[in-house]
Amino acid sequence: MQDVLVGIRTYLVENNLEECEEQVSEIRRAFPEARLLLVNCGLDPTKRMTASVDEAITYSPRPTGLGEPTKMILDYAREKGFKELVVIDGDQQHYAEEIARLAREERGRADAVVPERKKRFLFARGRLDGKTIEDLMNAFLRSGVKGGTTIPDLTPGAYVIYQPSKLHGKNLTAENSWVGDLLLVQEMLEKKMKIASPRIGVRPNVYAISSENLVFKAIEQMERFYAAKLDEIASKVKENPYDYLYGGNLGLIDDVLDAYRDYQYKKKIVKMKALVLAGGKGTRFKPFTNTIQKQVFPLANKPLLHFIMEKIARTGITEVGVIVGPNKDQIRDCLKDGSNWNLNVTYIEQDNPAGLAHAVLCAKQFLGESPFLMYLGDNLLHEDVTNFLLDFLNSKAAASIMLARVKEPQKFGIAELDENGRIKRLLEKPKNPPTNLAIIGVYAFHNEVFNAISRIKPSARGELEITDAIQKLLEAGRPVDYRVISDWWEDTGNSASMLDANARLLDELKDAGSDAHEKQVDATSVVKGRVSLGAGAAIRNGSTVIGPAAIGENCIIDGSFIGPYTTLGNNNKVSSSQITYSLTLDNVVLENAKQLVFSIIGKNSRVTGTGKHEENAVLMIGDDTQIKMT
Ligand code: G1P
Repeated sequence: MQDVLVGIRTYLVENNLEECEEQVSEIRRAFPEARLLLVNCGLDPTKRMTASVDEAITYSPRPTGLGEPTKMILDYAREKGFKELVVIDGDQQHYAEEIARLAREERGRADAVVPERKKRFLFARGRLDGKTIEDLMNAFLRSGVKGGTTIPDLTPGAYVIYQPSKLHGKNLTAENSWVGDLLLVQEMLEKKMKIASPRIGVRPNVYAISSENLVFKAIEQMERFYAAKLDEIASKVKENPYDYLYGGNLGLIDDVLDAYRDYQYKKKIVKMKALVLAGGKGTRFKPFTNTIQKQVFPLANKPLLHFIMEKIARTGITEVGVIVGPNKDQIRDCLKDGSNWNLNVTYIEQDNPAGLAHAVLCAKQFLGESPFLMYLGDNLLHEDVTNFLLDFLNSKAAASIMLARVKEPQKFGIAELDENGRIKRLLEKPKNPPTNLAIIGVYAFHNEVFNAISRIKPSARGELEITDAIQKLLEAGRPVDYRVISDWWEDTGNSASMLDANARLLDELKDAGSDAHEKQVDATSVVKGRVSLGAGAAIRNGSTVIGPAAIGENCIIDGSFIGPYTTLGNNNKVSSSQITYSLTLDNVVLENAKQLVFSIIGKNSRVTGTGKHEENAVLMIGDDTQIKMT
């Protein structure tokens, strides 16, 4: 019967098989008398490795943390009555010789050897890029343990346990490897084992780099296990840095705390819902809204709502309710079930457009108790809304709104601030606006907004205004947070703002590269600046296209000038015409149409000129229309 069991634990993937094999051979040389047990997740080593262990167990195809294999190794040692157990990682970080030497030296003097390492090596990816977070993780062990520990800098993956039968291994179920190791040490301490912690070296240039999320999950588990929060641990560390940080970097504690807080709030954002308002009549955007619901109108050849879905998806929210009115089929066709953006869309009908607060009421059942993001389906903003939501969840506010400084504040909901910069009052389209801070169409609410809505009456325009409901929250003493946006925003109410929004979006086109359009542009034509050309589009016979511009699929541009900030829909035929800062939908024909500017042309429409027209022409024409310019 062998006395010593060496349990090697590892995660085997294609590119570390060799590394593990070398480590196994090294362990074999260092512990010639021992039984070698490999417990791994990932690939099955019996088919892939030639180095001999005495027994191999693959417990899972995917990594489930080191708690599980450690427990299996411990159980195996106990069941088979091994007198001594060595747990070591098969990833070549540790010198097996050195561990064998420690095991020999401490035999008879200690119950276990939990080495301390000279070099720290666990780095976090993501926002904490390149930073070691090991000291903070260790601080849990050092401050949270009941009996206290003198191990200043635990080395994961290298332990010697002289009487494995003493440990029950019950607690070693942590999903996270780092926590699994701390639990093992914790158990040794609880069993009052005498622990020797000599310092060992790890191989130079061998680091573990863990994704930020894994690190944060480990911290969460530690918080649970030690019933202590990272903030508390961090403040202890800050009070007595030299007791907690062994050569670690104090400056990074706040970065870790910030990033960890955001991680936790992001998890809360995922549980939020989004409500997108895509009903309403769009009266200010006639004649186009006679046939097209405003929120599906394409800008830079993409329906408005698609931009909004992209923005929502980026926050991590997945449940999206979309309020629809009479043109619900158009909205459904445009978004389907939301799976294009990994969103789950629920359509909610609003039978009459009785205001934004009324739309929220329609969604009461869908929203349930969740905090939610409300997004007006005709608002486009450049800024990402994730931080807006993080700040909201991180505050005690009942609601939060986004504000922008505008030139015509009387056209919007307006916020008035007090001397401390807090929101004092909100007014819906006041005649004499006290400020130029307009409420833009992005809001965050807690469920208590329903109560506020129940206390408002229809406004002068006969609608239940969300602005009034938020004002009620303020009157009830509930704080309302806000964020003033710094980048562009367009409320696409009318044709001018649609064209401006189109221009903003075109401005974001990437440079396609000098030869990108080679096959689609003939030798007599020029394409300059950032231009997107759809498949099958052709620019020919002395045409010029100046970007930023978007030309849809199968468009034929013949002897024409397409000026900056223009979007042409699919299948347009443009000959001997000029068009700038304008937008056309699909199947539009322009013939001899000169100097079209600030124009929007609906689908299947045809504009024919004589070519003699010298002045600028502004055309706003809906679908299926024929215009002759003389
Ligand atoms: C709505 C809101 C208003 C807000 C605006 C933003 O106005 O009532 O407070 O400033 O959206 O687009 P509406 O578009 O209904 O006139």
